[in-house]
Amino acid sequence: MSRIAYINGRYVPHRDPAVQIEDRGLQFADSVYEVILVADGHFVDEDPHLERLDRSMREIRMTPDFARPSLKRIMREVIRRNRIDYGMIYIQVTRGTAPRSAGFPAKARTTLILMARPMARPDSEKLARGVGVITVPDIRWKRRDVKSTSLLPNVLAKQQGIDAGAFDSWMVDEAGFITESSASNAWIVTKDKELMTRPASSDILRGITRMTAIGLAKKLGITFVERPFTAAEAKAAKEAFQTSATICVLPVTKIDGKAIGNGRVGELTQALIDSYSAYAAPVAIAGARRRQSVTA
Ligand code: PDD
Repeated sequence: MSRIAYINGRYVPHRDPAVQIEDRGLQFADSVYEVILVADGHFVDEDPHLERLDRSMREIRMTPDFARPSLKRIMREVIRRNRIDYGMIYIQVTRGTAPRSAGFPAKARTTLILMARPMARPDSEKLARGVGVITVPDIRWKRRDVKSTSLLPNVLAKQQGIDAGAFDSWMVDEAGFITESSASNAWIVTKDKELMTRPASSDILRGITRMTAIGLAKKLGITFVERPFTAAEAKAAKEAFQTSATICVLPVTKIDGKAIGNGRVGELTQALIDSYSAYAAPVAIAGARRRQSVTA
């Protein structure tokens, strides 16, 4: 089955050229995006993701040429046409196409691009063993709360991790505190069993999975503290993990080659993996009622 994408009112074969050469997303990374998990045919945390998309656009003074109900309709159509049961949907909005010049164009319609991809369910090997990360300096701009497609520092950080034989990189700010991973939020559990992640500010992306995981942790009765932690604290932690819409809750068992805790997936991490998977994909849980399907 061939993949179908959406761009500005048209459903097109994924491989077809569709974006203009002078699209500002292409030339200036003048664009914002969202990635939403599709699990058992429904969008996980759809509204919080779309609210963050609106906020990202507002923060960069971009006015979209579409309304949320029509975006929701297009999302459902893209999922239907690509027959996604478990996977992700990607939404990107650029400031449009105009002769190349840094200032905002006087008239340009925003470009709306959607694509979807089936994904394997969370990798049981990675979930069982955890992954390794390395720490790297955070060289990004100061508005990391805006989900912009200016992702070059993230790309370089991720590749640095891969080159070092790790899965990912955790970025460290100038004061020595972890900000987040190249594409997810970073968490630790201290020796005192305190679950910790950096407070939401312009230093990090306000992860939607992060927000959901905080709610789930509270329900599980886990002690939760929002404060920045250093790379040294992370290495001395009992447990570590990272969260995003695509990796969900992924255990981290090695940082810079040092085993975290006993080197195995921690108890609280496991509780959150289970709780998040029940939250995201209830159908995979025996006896759970299917949530309303987006393809219905
Ligand atoms: N990344 N931090 C960064 C830098 C991210 O790029 C992401 C998401 C997150 C987690 O946010 P959320 O829980 O809302 O997915 C944190 C997406 C998945 C991506 O770029 O593919």
